[in-house]
Amino acid sequence: MKKVITGVMNSYNKIARTYFEGAKFFNEEIMHAELIALAKKYGFDFRGKSVLDLGCGPGGLMKKLETLGTTPHGIDISEELLKIASERGCENLTLGSMHELGNYFAPETFDAVFSNFVLHYLPPEGQMLTIRNVYNVLKPGGLWIYSFCHPFFMRHWYLDETTGEFPARTKNYFYPLRIDAWGEKEFGESLPLFRLDWPEIHSLNRNEGFDVLEMKDATLPSDVEKTVLVKTQDKNVIELIELFKKNPFGVFIAARKP
Ligand SMILES: C[S@@+](CC[C@H](N)C(=O)[O-])C[C@H]1O[C@@H](n2cnc3c(N)ncnc32)[C@H](O)[C@@H]1O
Repeated sequence: MKKVITGVMNSYNKIARTYFEGAKFFNEEIMHAELIALAKKYGFDFRGKSVLDLGCGPGGLMKKLETLGTTPHGIDISEELLKIASERGCENLTLGSMHELGNYFAPETFDAVFSNFVLHYLPPEGQMLTIRNVYNVLKPGGLWIYSFCHPFFMRHWYLDETTGEFPARTKNYFYPLRIDAWGEKEFGESLPLFRLDWPEIHSLNRNEGFDVLEMKDATLPSDVEKTVLVKTQDKNVIELIELFKKNPFGVFIAARKP
């Protein structure tokens, strides 16, 4: 696991600025907004709450959480991304790996833990340890709201146009860890992805003590044309949103510590 973490850390440090520029719009306008909406749906009142952003990267979600009246904390493995978060005015930033959260935060510190597209960077045992740690740092009744790569991550990449099938994806489906990679095309760095299927995501949370409230495809806001697409002319972003409509490459999970 150490090797995986070091690899991911080195890659994100290397691509920090280009990743930030390239992924900012999609993460901040769509993913973060939808994660916040999910917490609201389960009655989370942000004002005065202490929250953690797990794998906070360049800090966009922390900024949003702050405007909602919370005191956000962030942890990430990439020093370079944390630098960007700090330049953007984020405070309470910790450099460390998510599976060792307990080394940095006392039990029952947070009212909610948020995380956007981070957990899949650890192999399943690391994901389990992370969820165990998230459980411990949450107060009773606390919310755990996160996105994770979809079991059919980026399946459009594998589409065989002539047959309309997804041959590589189908082949990989039975590979025990279903490891994929992404980022080569976008940022010149290949990042691993440790996908889980729906029942595995559920069990992992359930086994660590969480009540799983909801798991769903990471859909776009229903009024995405009016509220989000009007804000950008960036062809890559528009193409990504169009692809996402057909094949959302993320899932959202909402869980509560009893
Ligand atoms: C796809 S980026 C998402 C960044 C941020 N959550 C956002 O929405 O803008 C994944 C993030 O996970 C972080 N990460 C990967 N492995 C990690 C680990 N083991 N512990 C903490 N952070 C990790 C990366 O450094 C990167 O910031």
